[in-house]
Amino acid sequence: MLLALLIFLPAALAETIAEIQGNTFKSPLVGRSVTNVSGLVTAKSASAGFWIALTDSSSDAAIQVFTADPAVLSQVTPGDIVTLDAKVSEFLRLGNDYVNSLTLTELTSPTNIRKLSSGNTVTPIVVGADGLHPPTQQFTSLDVGGPLTIPNDASKLMTANPTLQPTQYGLDFWESLVGKLVKVTVPTSLGRPNRFKDFWIRGDWPSTGVNARGGLTVNLGSDGLPDLNPEAVVVGKPLDGTSNPDVRMGTTVSEIVGVVTYDFEFYRILPLTAPTVLANNDAVQGPTTLTVPENDAGCTLTFGDYNVENLSWNSDHLPTAASQIADFLKTPDIVFLQEIQDDSGGSNNGVVTSNRTMDALVDAIASRNGVRYSHTYISPSNNQDGGANGGNIRVAFLYRPERLKLVNPNYGGPLDKTEVVNNNGKLGLTFNPGRIDPSNSAWEGTRKPLVALFESIASGQQVIAINIHDSSKSGDDSSLHGNPRPPINYAVQKRLAQVPVIADFVKSILALKSDAAVIVSGDFNEFIQLKAVFDPLTAHLKSIDDAANTPAEERYTYLFNGNAQQLDLAFISPKLQPGAEVEHLHINTWSRLGTRTPDHDPSVSRVKLC
Ligand SMILES: *[C@@H]1O[C@H](CO)[C@@H](O)[C@H](O)[C@H]1NC(C)=O
Ligand SMILES: *[C@@H]1O[C@H](CO)[C@@H](O)[C@H](O)[C@H]1NC(C)=O
Ligand SMILES: *[C@@H]1O[C@H](CO)[C@@H](O)[C@H](O)[C@H]1NC(C)=O
Repeated sequence: MLLALLIFLPAALAETIAEIQGNTFKSPLVGRSVTNVSGLVTAKSASAGFWIALTDSSSDAAIQVFTADPAVLSQVTPGDIVTLDAKVSEFLRLGNDYVNSLTLTELTSPTNIRKLSSGNTVTPIVVGADGLHPPTQQFTSLDVGGPLTIPNDASKLMTANPTLQPTQYGLDFWESLVGKLVKVTVPTSLGRPNRFKDFWIRGDWPSTGVNARGGLTVNLGSDGLPDLNPEAVVVGKPLDGTSNPDVRMGTTVSEIVGVVTYDFEFYRILPLTAPTVLANNDAVQGPTTLTVPENDAGCTLTFGDYNVENLSWNSDHLPTAASQIADFLKTPDIVFLQEIQDDSGGSNNGVVTSNRTMDALVDAIASRNGVRYSHTYISPSNNQDGGANGGNIRVAFLYRPERLKLVNPNYGGPLDKTEVVNNNGKLGLTFNPGRIDPSNSAWEGTRKPLVALFESIASGQQVIAINIHDSSKSGDDSSLHGNPRPPINYAVQKRLAQVPVIADFVKSILALKSDAAVIVSGDFNEFIQLKAVFDPLTAHLKSIDDAANTPAEERYTYLFNGNAQQLDLAFISPKLQPGAEVEHLHINTWSRLGTRTPDHDPSVSRVKLC
C-alpha cells in the first residue's frame, strides 16, 4: 500500500494550468507541489503577483501566481512565456466577515522561474456582445428554486464543488474565467462605488432587469423564479494602483481589460488600469406628478412613504429630508415615515417621546412651502423596539389637517393592542392610533406596526393606514456569490412571522367592511420576489405597483451590491385599486457616494377614495 502511494504520488508533477484549475470550483490538486507549469504572463501587480494563461488550442485556462516579492516579480513581464514550480493553494481571506466566502485557486511560492520567450501578444478574452455572455438568472445548480429559497444554507458550494456549467449558472460562469484576462466592452455602472471604490457593472452582454437609468433591478425571471442578476460583476482595485472613478447608477465607463478573481465574497475584475467616465446621467427624478387635483372634494388621497434613517431633531439630514418631502414628494396627504428617533436621538437615557423630532420635521417642511402637517405616532417602551440603543426608532405618520382628521383620537400605549370595530356603519379603532398586536412574539425586539384611522374632511371617506417597518435585513446575510446555498437570509424567519400578523389585522377590517380603504405601507426589508413572506398579505391586498402596472424594472427603492431592489412597498385594498398610481423617486439610489440623504428612495402614490 505504502509502495503504491510512493509510485503514484510523486512529490512533484508536471501539470498544466488546465489540470490545476480543473472543471470545478476547487482545484483537484489543492495542496500539491507542481513543476514546470508554463504559460503566458498576461498581467502583473506589485501586491498580488502575476497571472499566467495557457494559449494552446486545447485550453485558455489561466491562474494567479501569488507573490509580493519584488525579486520574483522582477523576473516576469507581460508577454513572457514562462515555466515555474509552485504550490497549488485555495486562498481564503480570513476574518469573521468572510466565513461564508468561496476560495480562490492560485499558485503560491513560485520558484525556478524560467523565461522561454518574451514579447508575445497578450489578447484578452472578450466578455460582451461579441464574446462570452454570463447567464442572467441562476447563480448555481445548488439554489434549487432560486437564490431566495427557504430553507437557506441547505448546502455549501465548496463542499458540493459541482462541475462547472458556465452557460447555465452565473457563479460557474465567473469561476470558469478566474485567472483569465478579460475585456468588457461598454461597461455600465450599476450604482455608486463602495468606500474602496469598487463598483458593480454590466457589460454589453444580454442582461435582464435593465431599468431606464441603466441599472439592474431584481425581478422575476420568465420562469417565475427570482432573478437577482448573476450577470453583474464587481470592478475591484486596479492593478497599477490607479483609482476607480466616481460613478453612479447608469454611468458608462471606458472599456475594462482586467483579470478575473474572487475576493471579499464576490467575483470581481481587477482592471489593469482604472477606467474613465464616458458619460454620467445627472438628471434628477421628480418632483412627483402625483398631486391632489384642484377642487378635489375629498375623493383623492395622496400618500408618501419614506424611511428617513435614524432621524432625530438635530440630524444633519433633517433639512434635506424636509425639503424632499416638500419639493419632491409635494407634501402628500399622509406620509408614512420609518426610523424616527426619540427626542434624545442616540442618547440612551430613557427618553422615548418623539415630539421634538416630529415638530422639527414639520417646521422644516412648513418653511419650504407653507404646508403644516400634524403628526401621530406611539412611543415604544424604552429599548424594546430594536435599532440603535437609546434611539428608540419608530414609525410615524404626518397628515395634512386641512384635508384629513384622525377619527376619535384615543392613543394606545406601547403594549395596547388596537382592534377594528363597527361604529354605527363606519369603522372605528379601539385605539386610534394603535399598535397591531404589539405583544405578539413576532415583534420582539423590533418596531411594532402602527395603525391610524383617518377621515377626509371634505368627503367623510375613511381610510385605514398601517405603517410598518419589518425586521432589518442583516448586514451579515451571506453573499449572493458566497458558500452557503441558497444564501443565508438571517432575519427571514422574523419577517415570515410578522407579515401574517399584519395580514390578520387587514382581514379583520375587510371582514367588517369589504370595501374598506386600507393602505399598508412601509419598509418590509424583504424582496417582494420572496412570495413565502408576502403571500399572507397579497391574499387580501394588492401591491400598488401591480395595481398601477409599474414596469417590473422600475420597481426599486434601494440599492445593494449592484442590485436595484424594492424593500419599500405599499399594498392597497380592492376599493383603492382602480386607477391607483405610484412613483418611486430615486433621490438616493441614483446619487453619488456621500451625497445621499438616507439610503432609501421615497415613493408617492395617489388613490381614489370615492
Ligand atoms: C521540468 O523541466 C526541467 C527542465 O526542462 C526537466 O529537467 C525536468 O525533468 C522537468 N520536470 C518534470 C517533473 O517534468
Ligand atoms: C406630542 O404629539 C402628539 C401627536 O403626535 C400630541 O397628541 C401630543 O399632545 C404631543 N405631546 C405634547 C407633550 O406636546
Ligand atoms: C441607524 O442605526 C442603525 C442601528 O444602530 C445603524 O446600523 C445604521 O448604520 C444607522 N444609520 C445611520 C445612517 O446612522
